[in-house]
This record gives sequence, structure tokens and C-alpha cells, in this order.
Amino acid sequence: MKAISYRAYGGPEVLEYGDVRDPKVGPDTVLVKVRAAALNPVDYKCREGYLDAALDPVFPVIPAWDVAGVVVQPGVAAPEFAVGDEVIGYVREDFLSRGTLAEYVAAPVRTLARKPRNLSFEEAAGLPLAGLTAYQVITKALAVTAGDVVLVHAAAGGVGAFAVQLARHAGARVIGTASERNHAFLRELGAEPVTYGDGLAERVRALAPEGVDAAFDTIGGDTLKLSADLLAPGGRLASIADGSVIALGGQYCFVRPDPADLTRLTELVEQDVLTVHVQETFPLEQAADAFRLIEEGRTRGKIVVRVDWAEEG
Ligand SMILES: NC(=O)c1ccc[n+]([C@@H]2O[C@H](COP(=O)([O-])OP(=O)(O)OC[C@H]3O[C@@H](n4cnc5c(N)ncnc54)[C@H](OP(=O)(O)O)[C@@H]3O)[C@@H](O)[C@H]2O)c1
Repeated sequence: MKAISYRAYGGPEVLEYGDVRDPKVGPDTVLVKVRAAALNPVDYKCREGYLDAALDPVFPVIPAWDVAGVVVQPGVAAPEFAVGDEVIGYVREDFLSRGTLAEYVAAPVRTLARKPRNLSFEEAAGLPLAGLTAYQVITKALAVTAGDVVLVHAAAGGVGAFAVQLARHAGARVIGTASERNHAFLRELGAEPVTYGDGLAERVRALAPEGVDAAFDTIGGDTLKLSADLLAPGGRLASIADGSVIALGGQYCFVRPDPADLTRLTELVEQDVLTVHVQETFPLEQAADAFRLIEEGRTRGKIVVRVDWAEEG
């Protein structure tokens, strides 16, 4: 099959498009014909070797973990799925090997849920990793409830856009950080936009003089410290970017594949609670350009790679 792969850590130039061996379908896995695969910042961090201490690479590595596609073969111990089922998945293993930038991926059942009926494959591919991250932080780590004032950093990005919508759905007021070009987008999502950079703390205090009840840090460093300072008494803090959040009394979160959570996200999309904004799509052959774009750190919503199958619409 065709896939994007890399034989050594490095920049986007290590990415190759070409033939790799077909995946084997293990007992608990489902062979998915990939229609679209979204990128996340972690994909280039893995490619650059930043996660080497945690994820053992098996080269050549096929990058990316998000997928939307169609089941073509369930494994012998995977009765949950049947041929033809449309699925989405956050196909992360505890090692780096066979990701989703390929024509097919063998996805463990624990990583999958059915695809929202009201999304295209391109949109659906953008949901799993970023949606699960936002869901696990907003509903579990921060336990956002009605009446909370919630601060979400990088609110126009992949995770932030879902976090804003989920916190609004919980009945919270949301203050979201972004550059000014994304303020209208944040308002559409239901957030009150503030520009990040110098003076951010004062701008947030102007909107929330009593402090915020929960802060979702997606940036780390000074942004994390500032978030801790902006908390109201008893306020909750979570970070997906900086482990020093623990020393500040908050929680560090790393997103887990969870079929129940992913199914809940599918339901929320079908109830029109959540939308998926796709900034741009690229054909599989041009995935390196998709990487270059996400590495700029200015993504609005998601960047998606599609597999263009000749026979299908
Ligand atoms: N621990 C985990 O499980 C986990 C899971 C998912 C993601 N992450 C990490 O969380 C971070 C965010 O992920 P993502 O997928 O949302 O990334 P993303 O989609 O690439 O984020 C892009 C957004 O970041 C905004 N941005 C850039 N610098 C900013 C700043 N200083 N303050 C506020 N916003 C800023 C940009 O807004 P403007 O264009 O308006 O500047 C853009 O909309 C990444 O580092 C990622 O690796 C961790």
C-alpha cells in the first residue's frame, strides 16, 4: 500500500511517499481503509524525536494517529465492527510504528468509535485526538460546570476550539486566547476573545475581575504561571503542555484513546453541540506540506490529509 513514512527522526524532509508493506490484522484490531487523517502537533514532535523517551520507534514509522475511514476487515476478536462501518479513531500505541498517513491502518478496537453521520470524512478525521483531549480536560480534569468562568489558551487551535465548545455546552462562560485574526472565529464558537502576549493578564482580569474558576493551559511556561495567578480561590488548573502544572497544584493531562469518550464526541457532533473546523486539506502525497503548515503553530481548527480513492466519492 501507499503511505507516508520516515526512516529516521528529522524535519519534514525525512517524510517519504511510497510503498510500504500492508498492515496485518491482529485479533483485537480492525483494518480501516483510510479516507482522511488529521495532523496534530504531536506528530511532528514524534517525527523530530522529542517523544523518544516514551515511545519506542519501529522504523520506518508511518506518522499520525487520527483517522476516519471504512472498516474492510474486523480482526477475529473484534465483533464490535463489521465490513462497511464508517469509523473514527485516535490510533495511538505506546510505540511509534504504523500510523494513519497510509491507505490502510490496523486500528485496535479500543481506539475506535463510529463516525458522526453529519460529518465528511475530512471533518471526522479532525475529531479524535483533539476532541478527546478537550473532552478529557474539560469534563474530567477541570470538571467544568454551569456558571464557571473558564480560560482556554490557544482557543482557535485544534484542542482549544473543541474545549471552548465543550465548556460552553457545560454552561460555562469562556474566555479564549488567540491573535486578533481569530477573534471572530472565537466568538462564533461562543468564547470571549482576548489577545495573548504582553498585557494578557490585565485583559483577562478586565473580563473576570474575581478570577477564573478553571484554566486550560495549552502553551506552558509563562502562560501556565499566568494562568495559575488568574485563578479565583479554589480554581482548577490543567495543562497539556507543561508538567510543572503539578507543582502549581494543577493536573497534567495526556490524552488517552477511550472508545466511550470518543462515542460521546460522536453524539455531541450529531446533536450539533460540536463542530469541526478544517482549515485545509492535502492529498496524501503532499503530507509533508501539511506538516510544514501545522509546524507554523497558527492552525485554525484542523489540518487534514485525505486519501483520494479512484472508485469512490
Ligand atoms: N498532552 C496531550 O495529551 C496533548 C494533546 C493535544 C495537544 N497537545 C499539545 O497542546 C498544544 C496545542 O495543541 P493543538 O492541537 O491545539 O495545536 P494547534 O492546533 O497547532 O494550535 C494552533 C493555535 O495556537 C494558537 N497560538 C499560538 N501561540 C499561542 C499563544 N502563545 N497563546 C495562545 N494561542 C497561541 C494559534 O492562534 P493564532 O493563530 O491566533 O496565534 C493557533 O490557533 C500543542 O503543543 C500540542 O502538542 C497535548
